[in-house]
Amino acid sequence: IKVVVAFGGESVEHEISILSAHQVMQAMNPMKYEVIPLYIAKDGRLLYHPLNTELERFENLDKVEREGYEVSLQRRGNRFYMCPNKYSFLRKEISFDMVFPILHGTHGEDGTFQGYLSTLHIPYIGCSVLGGAIGQDKIIMKQILEDSGLPVAPWFYWTLLKPLDDTFFRKAERLSYPLIVKPANLGSSIGVAKVENEVELHRAMIEAYQYDGRVVIEKAIEHVQEINCAVLGDEQTCEASVLEEVLSSKDILSYADKYVCGEGVKGIVSTRRCIPARIDEELALEIQTLAKECFRCLCASGTGRIDFLYNRETKDLYINEINTIPGSLAFYLWEKSNLPFPKLIDRLVQIAKK
Ligand code: DAL
Ligand code: MG
Repeated sequence: IKVVVAFGGESVEHEISILSAHQVMQAMNPMKYEVIPLYIAKDGRLLYHPLNTELERFENLDKVEREGYEVSLQRRGNRFYMCPNKYSFLRKEISFDMVFPILHGTHGEDGTFQGYLSTLHIPYIGCSVLGGAIGQDKIIMKQILEDSGLPVAPWFYWTLLKPLDDTFFRKAERLSYPLIVKPANLGSSIGVAKVENEVELHRAMIEAYQYDGRVVIEKAIEHVQEINCAVLGDEQTCEASVLEEVLSSKDILSYADKYVCGEGVKGIVSTRRCIPARIDEELALEIQTLAKECFRCLCASGTGRIDFLYNRETKDLYINEINTIPGSLAFYLWEKSNLPFPKLIDRLVQIAKK
């Protein structure tokens, strides 16, 4: 099977996506798959270059940016081709069977790239346009979860069109500080802040508006334990992985905590985590059940990672978010669930073909 692995992209999670895709390409069984790497530059150009499989140290990025062949994906009858754009030197077109989007965040995980593929009837792995879009937008996601009776931390949202007036601060006061402020549409903790009072809230809102005109304000969960669960399948049948506990001494893991260690971006694998999470069996089961329900009601497909917040004192559990294309495809959770990475990829291909 010829698989175009698409990665990079315009989002702030560009580098993470390169690392995730590198791991995926390494894990794809060469006896079954022919990998066609497609790098999406930060300006949105689709680039093909022989060095596309060797970008994990970021050293070759400049070269690929300069010398990569601009391509587009096309359909002729029921066959698919990666074709050089008019002015490119790449003379031949490359045929393929399906696309594997390993893109995080906006213009990739949010359904937009999937929309491009859907329009051309190109088969692809993972979430549909709808599932990706819901998962990326924290406001829509929370509204659906609430409507489905699934637990989310108390919250409200605000937009740039409305003034940060008394009504706003009263609403915030009602949730009671500390609060977490997040842009509705970003990932990897960018633009996220914990605030203790009105002054800090005001400042955090201005900061969050730099990234998105729609902002979520939610109650910070105290005595918090962060627990993540991956789900694999589609809306009809899905299964949950073992759980991971994210270890941190801070309230919010920053982008750097998550991905940077020492001299550069090292990928989601550098997050300190404990697998399985240190919780009792009953709670673990409850989280796995909720994770599957969440996956289904958010119209997800393929593999996603659902992140929970647990208050150790009050024993309240909340769904924090879904990542419909999780970093490293959460392979480390599936491996601990007796599903090696190459087998996980086989399963994702099967689900996509269904
Ligand atoms: N959005 C990043 C990659 C994650 O949490 O998996
Ligand atoms: Mg995310």
